[in-house]
Amino acid sequence: MPVIRTISKVAKQALLSTPGCGCQPVTVAVRNISFSPRQVTSDASFHSVSFSETDHPKVLITGGLGQLGVGLAKLLRKRFGKNNVILSDIRKPPSNVFHSGPFIYSDILDYKNLREIVVNNRITWLVHYSALLSAVGEANVALARSVNITGLHNILDIAAEHGLRLFVPSTIGAFGPSSPRNPTPDLCVQRPRTIYGVSKVHAELMGEYYHHRYGLDFRCLRYPGIISADSMPGGGTTDYAVQIFHDAIKKAKFECNLRPDSRLPMMYIDDCLRATLEVMEAPADALSMRTYNINAMSFTPEELAQELQKQMPELEVTYDIDPVRQAIADSWPMNFDDSNARKDWGWKHDYDLPELVQTMLNYFGVETRMASAN
Ligand SMILES: NC(=O)c1ccc[n+]([C@@H]2O[C@H](COP(=O)([O-])OP(=O)(O)OC[C@H]3O[C@@H](n4cnc5c(N)ncnc54)[C@H](O)[C@@H]3O)[C@@H](O)[C@H]2O)c1
Repeated sequence: MPVIRTISKVAKQALLSTPGCGCQPVTVAVRNISFSPRQVTSDASFHSVSFSETDHPKVLITGGLGQLGVGLAKLLRKRFGKNNVILSDIRKPPSNVFHSGPFIYSDILDYKNLREIVVNNRITWLVHYSALLSAVGEANVALARSVNITGLHNILDIAAEHGLRLFVPSTIGAFGPSSPRNPTPDLCVQRPRTIYGVSKVHAELMGEYYHHRYGLDFRCLRYPGIISADSMPGGGTTDYAVQIFHDAIKKAKFECNLRPDSRLPMMYIDDCLRATLEVMEAPADALSMRTYNINAMSFTPEELAQELQKQMPELEVTYDIDPVRQAIADSWPMNFDDSNARKDWGWKHDYDLPELVQTMLNYFGVETRMASAN
């Protein structure tokens, strides 16, 4: 196979060119061989773009029209300049997104198109957000396998070929029922029971493998469930924690699809996006690992409802359990141990449950409504 031949040729050349005294086996730090398996030898001089060549990184975000991408683009554009951050997706962007900065069509299953975008735009950072989330993935396993696993392979190869810094988010869903659940540490048994979780463990392991084998600058955070006001979630098990705000405001009623005592780690979107920028900017020698848990708070639907009812006493919450989502929630961490992120690169969350609820209600103008009602 050409791929295998290329790797062995590269490895052989590297081994032969290593200075040795001849008295011991030649050993090479393999992480210095920065070729990806798909790279052809004639491309070897192609590593022309590196972060140090530019004042700012040039960032490409895949799957950028989901819950998190637009907010991340806004944060990164503020930091690095509007034209240095390109959003991409396979969907048509709403006009406010289209007019807020560069947008490009990109299907992560199209390797050549991805490579063209990276080359033509001199991309140096790749934030890989495309994925099918937990509940959606269970409803379409073949597509989830293709986007979350085959798509990731394209991303890894392109990032390794072009010397990119690569961020891939993982999730609480990368753990399973045999993992310690309260709290879940960074390193423990990971036997998830969803295609989403399996694909994210695969991403963590492949990214770390490429880091050690090819020197890829892979960085990964395991996000908890993310709560945002201005973007809707894409079909995950923690979606209820966003939907409750929308329904509370529109109807003063919410039907929850998880049991009232389902405890899951959660985070406000601003904390999540800031963590992503911070880990991408962290000096490489501060990172003792390449995949970190990050956490902010942990609550049940009942606790969230009670916090909301402090401000909206008229809110009624009922429960109609979705067995698929409930089984997923029951297999996930209840609490996340993120002490390594706090120690290594200074992670610190800003939002606990009361601040989260207040911020969400402020966004929807509820404070104003209550103030004027009084
Ligand atoms: N939102 C959360 O609570 C949460 C929690 C943990 C991890 N994450 C991870 O963060 C990332 C972003 O999450 P999100 O909530 O924004 O997801 P989302 O489901 O809202 O958005 C994913 C995007 O990927 C795009 N996409 C699908 N197939 C594609 C393809 N073939 N090529 C290019 N794009 C494609 C979709 O059009 C969509 O816009 C995901 O990798 C997810 O696993 C999210």
